[in-house]
Amino acid sequence: MRHLMNPLDFTVEELDRLFDLAGDIAADPAKYAHACAGKKLATCFYEPSTRTRLSFEAAMLNLGGSVLGFSDAASSSASKGESVSDTIRIISCYADICAMRHPKEGAPMVAASRSGIPVINAGDGGHQHPTQTLTDLMTIRALKGRLGGFTIGLCGDLKFGRTVHSLIAALIRYPGIRFVFISPPELKVPDYITDQLKELGIGYEEVIRLEDSIADLDLLYMTRVQRERFFNEEDYVRLKDFYILNNEKMALAKEDMLVLHPLPRVNEISVEVDDDPRAVYFKQAQYGVYVRMALILTLLEITV
Ligand code: NCD
Repeated sequence: MRHLMNPLDFTVEELDRLFDLAGDIAADPAKYAHACAGKKLATCFYEPSTRTRLSFEAAMLNLGGSVLGFSDAASSSASKGESVSDTIRIISCYADICAMRHPKEGAPMVAASRSGIPVINAGDGGHQHPTQTLTDLMTIRALKGRLGGFTIGLCGDLKFGRTVHSLIAALIRYPGIRFVFISPPELKVPDYITDQLKELGIGYEEVIRLEDSIADLDLLYMTRVQRERFFNEEDYVRLKDFYILNNEKMALAKEDMLVLHPLPRVNEISVEVDDDPRAVYFKQAQYGVYVRMALILTLLEITV
């Protein structure tokens, strides 16, 4: 039985197969409409989410399966003090596969070690968010035609943003990637990541101003300042509007640069940018459903 805790749990070849499958699903959804008939997905979300939880549910429903679960810790037995290990043992009796989000780093891993069904990490604290990374990679591959050979700027909260940490970990396996980390000094990418890049000889730069580097980028990955992981509101308020991508800054970028964002957006991308053909964050959310469909089929070992 396989789980997905980290994007590196799949080899580059396995990811290629997963993206091919997701592409096939996108091209012919009817072929997969009953693939999971009789199967159940449990979504156990101990932390708020719209996209991730609903895209998992939509993915399972599109495959003809059913869904059950809870969307916040207060409405689960966690509020009575039940451990994640006990909860997953129970969920294993009710469902065939589980997507779990938790504010504590490593909680889905603990669940996986006790589980009788495949567990998917749907985001654990500031640590990892592998299915967002699959979504990001699928989007890049579909719209750029390749994974590798580009300069990617990651902008915003690089300290607490788990989508950023997961994406960097996944991208370093592809050739010819250069990173530009754009953040205020307080929200810099953690040292363990830059240490690893140095060790592997992968090029990166750390800058503060988006205007200074946007012209070099093939991809720009914008992120929200992670309010829920700040220790005090004052720091959040000071940093939340540090970056605002608008048409004026987009005018400095390459004609084929793509703007991605895991969403939800707060103020970091002004709505005027939504009409720019280079803004692909809403398309990205659609790819997220196809890739989660492919992931559910893969982990349940269902072939169509
Ligand atoms: C991200 C997350 O939960 O980490 N959202 C998502 O799953 N699409 C990004 C965020 O909350 O900023």
